[in-house]
Parts: sequence; C-alpha cells; structure tokens
Amino acid sequence: MASLSTTYMGLSLKSPLIAGSSGLTNTIDELREIAAKGAGAVVLKSIFEEQIRFETEKMIRQQEGIMDSMNKGYRDVLSSRPYDFAQAQDYIHNFAKEHTLADYLKFIEEAKKAVAIPVIASINCVSPYDWHYFARRIQSAGADAIELNIYVLPSNPEKSGQENENTFFEIVDAVRQQVTIPLSVKVSYYFSGLSRTLLDLSKTGIRGMVLFNRPFHPDLNIDTLEITSSNILSQPSEYSHTLRWIAILAGRAGCDLVASTGIHDYESVVKQILAGANAVQLASVLYKYGFDHISRINAELEKWMDSKAYRSLDDFRGKLSQVNVENPAVFERVQFMRLYSKIV
Ligand SMILES: Cc1cc2nc3c(=O)[nH]c(=O)nc-3n(C[C@H](O)[C@H](O)[C@H](O)COP(=O)(O)O)c2cc1C
Repeated sequence: MASLSTTYMGLSLKSPLIAGSSGLTNTIDELREIAAKGAGAVVLKSIFEEQIRFETEKMIRQQEGIMDSMNKGYRDVLSSRPYDFAQAQDYIHNFAKEHTLADYLKFIEEAKKAVAIPVIASINCVSPYDWHYFARRIQSAGADAIELNIYVLPSNPEKSGQENENTFFEIVDAVRQQVTIPLSVKVSYYFSGLSRTLLDLSKTGIRGMVLFNRPFHPDLNIDTLEITSSNILSQPSEYSHTLRWIAILAGRAGCDLVASTGIHDYESVVKQILAGANAVQLASVLYKYGFDHISRINAELEKWMDSKAYRSLDDFRGKLSQVNVENPAVFERVQFMRLYSKIV
C-alpha cells in the first residue's frame, strides 16, 4: 500500500495535505478535527500587522475619549504635569502589541497540546515592523515552524519593483536571525521578475516557500454603488497558475515548495507533486466541503498511487517539473497558437 508520508522544512508529515491558514484554523476544536481527518500539518490563522495597528488605534481613541470626559478639576491636575502624548501613544501601541501577541501565544501552546501533527504559526506582514520579536516569542511558545505571509501589493507608483521586493528580504533577514525553527514564506505573484526573486528568496535560509497566497478581490455593487468583495473562495480551475510556477522552480529552489490556491481534489494534489511540490495547502475546499474532504483526498490519492504502483510520493515527485520534461518551453508558453481555428 502506498505511503503518503512526506517531509516539509525538515518536519515529518504523514500526508502532503496541509490545512492552510484561514478562519478554519482558528480554534482548538477545529485543529483537533483537522488532525483527526488526516491532515499532515496545520497552519494557524495569521496574526496580522493590521490587527495590532487597529487595536492600537482603538485604544488611542478610547484614551482620547477618557481625556475629553474628564472633569475640569482632574484636567487641571493633569495639565499641571507635562503630558507627553507621543510617549502615551507608544505605550498604548506596546500594550496592544503585547495583548494581541499574548492571545496568539496561548493559542499556539494549546494547539501543541491538542494535536500531534506539526503546528505552523503564521504571521501576516506588510512591512518589517517588529516581526523578529514576535517570531522569537512564537518559537518559545512551541510552534514547529513559522510561515511569514508577506503580501506587498505594488500599488504605490512612487515605489520601484526593487523597493517592494526588498521588503521581503528585509523581513526574512530580521526574522531568520531570531529563530532556529524552520521558516517559510508565503508569497504573492506581484513581482517584476517573479522567478528570479523567488529563487533568490528561496536561498536566504528559509526552509519553505508557499506559492501563492490568493489576494482579496475587490468588486463593485452596481445597484448600491458600493465597494464590496467577491470570489472569497477559490475555484478548482485556479490550481494551474500555481502549477506552472511550482514546475518552473522545482529542482532549482533552495527550499521546499508548497502549492496553494485552487487545490480542491486529489487530481490537483497529484499534479502539484508531479510538478515538484513537497506538499499542498487547502483552504477554500475545506470551507466548501468540510474537514471530511481531507480524508477523502487522502484515500483517493492513495488509490491513484496504488493504480500506478507508486509506493511513495518521492516515486513521482517532480517527474513533470520543468527541469525533468522533454519540452520545458511548455511551461513558458503564454499564447494560443491557433487563435482563430480551435481552442488549443
Ligand atoms: C476566509 C479565508 C481566510 C484566510 N485567512 C488567511 C490568513 O489568515 N492567513 C493566510 O496566510 N492566508 C489566509 N487565507 C488564504 C488561504 O490560506 C489560501 O492561501 C488561499 O485561500 C488560497 O488557497 P485555496 O484555494 O485552497 O483557498 C485565507 C483564505 C480564506 C478563504
């Protein structure tokens, strides 16, 4: 019988299916179920930079409200002493940071007690911020690895591609110096030189790279003329974008590769492994079909491997990566050749 075991960032996984970071990896009960259904690992819901900034602003507004409602006498007492507003803001920011972090560390500790599969913490960063400090504390809380979900949308026309890309390297460098547990980076595809940047990033000492995060899709409501969101969950057809880049980077990257986006069935898992992925992450499909889908995909993957007489994932991993196929140009083809005749 085929074995589904694999390694990712030096961690042993009994299945290549990782429950990706989402609202479904946010409670201990959900983590227990994810592990019971046969996931190889779980990535916890991210701790967000914006979340800390939001908490800070909320507390600052509360503080300002308190100041306004103070009676005059008390205000006089206060004003007789120098009140350093910037210092107070700093204090509040640190308080919000510690508060958010404390909740997350507690969750990691509980998660480690609740499940035997590797628990990967996730930090969502858009700037270097204080992530090195967070990472050290997350390591102490017992996380098996950290996934840095770095999403820099290159929307600022004042910034060059190089400046945006440097942010990734700065964050990785700062965090890597603080932790000994494996580090992975979940990336977007908005790079001026995608394959070069990802290959450079893969050689910075990180142990894994997750291709790709899926951006929030803004939409417009033409009745209410409001900005909304759309396509929150991926479609099964979306896997092929990731497939191309896994195939191009496999065998060249300096770290393990994990495929994410549009992986909804065992067929797309097989394809990503054939392209060279160490593992895959599932999110949308778990929202659609529930955690039972993990066992279903595991069983179908095993059956497919048996039908091909593959005993392990290594027997076919990377078989169809760009470096291993006869016609590597096929992964770089971007136009249809016979535009006006048939769709081929
Ligand atoms: C509702 C929802 C919440 C998510 N939250 C996070 C998150 O906190 N951190 C993160 O790195 N990715 C998050 N993601 C992205 C997923 O981990 C995944 O990368 C993306 O949805 C593409 O994979 P899929 O096609 O399997 O959904 C979220 C996705 C969804 C649908």
